[in-house]
Amino acid sequence: MQAQSKFTDRRDLDYENPGYIPIAIRQPKRNPLRLVWLAIRSRLIALRRLYYVKVWRMDIHPSAWFSLRVEFDRTHPSGIHIGAESYVAFGAVLLTHDMTRGIYADTRVGTRCFIGAHSILMPGVTVGDGSIVGAGSVVTRDVASGTIVAGNPARVVKQGIKTYRFGCLWDWETLSKSGVPRDP
Ligand SMILES: CC(C)(COP(=O)(O)OP(=O)(O)OC[C@H]1O[C@@H](n2cnc3c(N)ncnc32)[C@H](O)[C@@H]1OP(=O)(O)O)[C@@H](O)C(=O)NCCC(=O)NCCS
Repeated sequence: MQAQSKFTDRRDLDYENPGYIPIAIRQPKRNPLRLVWLAIRSRLIALRRLYYVKVWRMDIHPSAWFSLRVEFDRTHPSGIHIGAESYVAFGAVLLTHDMTRGIYADTRVGTRCFIGAHSILMPGVTVGDGSIVGAGSVVTRDVASGTIVAGNPARVVKQGIKTYRFGCLWDWETLSKSGVPRDP
C-alpha cells in the first residue's frame, strides 16, 4: 500500500479522516525576524493606504490590504475602488485610464476578493464580490461574483466559490483557532 503523505493535496480534502492535515499548515515557519518584518509591513501598508486615500482620493476600504509593490493608476486615481477585506498581491496593476483610446474609467474590486500577483485589471473592469484573479492574469472584462478567473485574457476557471478574508479559500480565522498560524 502506498504511504499516505503527511500533507494531503487540497483536491483530496477528507474532513472525515482524523489524520487529515489541511494544506494551510504548510505556511513558512515564523521566526522572530519574520514576525518583526510582518509588524513593520502592516504599519507601512496602513500608512500607504492613508496616503492613497487622503492624497490621491482613491476609494480603498480600511479593511482592504495590498502589497507594497502594487501599482494603482494615478492618472485617474479616484477611479480606484477596493472593497472590504480584499487583497491585492505584489506586482498587480489596477488601470483606470488608457491613453490610446482616451478612456478614463472606474476600476472596481469587490469585497473579499484576491487579486493575484502580477495581474493587470484593465480600465473600467469590475471584479465581483468574493472573486479571485489568478497570478499573471489580464482581466479585460467584468468578473462575476464568486468566480475564479485566470490567464491572458482572463477566463473563468471556477464559479460558485466562497471566499473568506482577503479572498482566501481558507477560513484563516477558524484555522488559527485550531493552532494553524494566519497570514498575512
Ligand atoms: C487562480 C488560482 C487561485 C487557481 O487555483 P485553483 O482553483 O486551485 O485552480 P487549478 O490549479 O485547479 O487550475 C484550474 C485551471 O486554471 C489554470 N490556471 C490556474 N492558475 C492560473 C493562472 N494564474 N494563469 C493561467 N491559468 C491558470 C490551470 O492551468 C488549470 O487549467 P486546466 O484546467 O486547463 O488544467 C491560482 O492558480 C492562483 O493564481 N493563485 C494566486 C497566486 C498568487 O498570486 N500569489 C501571490 C502571493 S499571495
